Amino acid sequence: MSPFQLTRTLPEDATGADLRADVRRGLARTPKALPPKWFYDGRGSELFEEITRLPEYYPTRAEREILAERAGEIAAATGARTLVELGSGSSEKTRFLLDALTGLRSYVPVDVSESALRGAAEGLLAERPGLDVHALIADFTREVELPGTPGPRLVAFLGGTIGNLLPAERAAFLGMVRGLMSPGDALLLGTDLVKDEEVLVRAYDDAAGVTAAFNKNLLSVLARELGSDADPDDFDHVAVWDREQEWIEMRLRARKALTVKIRELDLVVPFEAGEELRTEVSAKFRQEGVRRELAAAGLEPVRWWTDAAGRFALSLATAR
Ligand code: AVJ
Repeated sequence: MSPFQLTRTLPEDATGADLRADVRRGLARTPKALPPKWFYDGRGSELFEEITRLPEYYPTRAEREILAERAGEIAAATGARTLVELGSGSSEKTRFLLDALTGLRSYVPVDVSESALRGAAEGLLAERPGLDVHALIADFTREVELPGTPGPRLVAFLGGTIGNLLPAERAAFLGMVRGLMSPGDALLLGTDLVKDEEVLVRAYDDAAGVTAAFNKNLLSVLARELGSDADPDDFDHVAVWDREQEWIEMRLRARKALTVKIRELDLVVPFEAGEELRTEVSAKFRQEGVRRELAAAGLEPVRWWTDAAGRFALSLATAR
């Protein structure tokens, strides 16, 4: 058997059909909103990588600090023979786990981006000749079907990406993840933590304007995929902290009254001056909330680690 397999569980055009449905629904509702997953075309993924290196954007460095420090403990606690990584992207931080998990036989990166999966697998296969890499092209917010790799499995969902889901979506997602797991398997979950509003807002509205470009890149995706004529210069990047919900919202605010024509959908969307389109929710967590959500999904929280500054947390939970 070849040490690299790629399985597509996402129909070739699922992405196109999903995008159309999300745009139709999201621009018809009040307030207007689109799901953040549409940021990540090639350019969007590059901009996100750039964000992770910004001085204001602490989550990536904080999570890397925890992984560097705790990978050995994670490996000892789980004894995983398969590592499943949901939303693996460039798999950069995963190296700490791959290096610490000495009994690891299979790595299953799951991502919607085939190019990200191929790129990440290429480097890994060269470094770890004994490892089976079974990449899955799948949307982890929907159904995921895992290959029959050896247990115990460690399912990793890093980066704080769970914060992009709304509370009800998180419950559904964690339930789906629990369904992938057998007794003895574990989930490693990265969550950004509630902190000073100023620190949070700066992380999503950096001085160099990279996050603004990332946010506006959504309009380029809509232009290319759906023939939208929205001009990025007609919108301002906005990041606000919602203290009730404890999440950051990114929005695009129309600088004047305008209409956006979306050719492929035969749609004309009016914006009032100052009207906002929500493009992302990035929820921040507290330990109690994470424990509660894990337990509600049938997962037992067993470890909680933060970086030294207490900005970000990794939780380990087992399937009962
Ligand atoms: C990749 C979803 C974890 O919410 O912090 C970064 C995406 N958005 N800057 C986050 C993001 C704006 C990021 N996640």
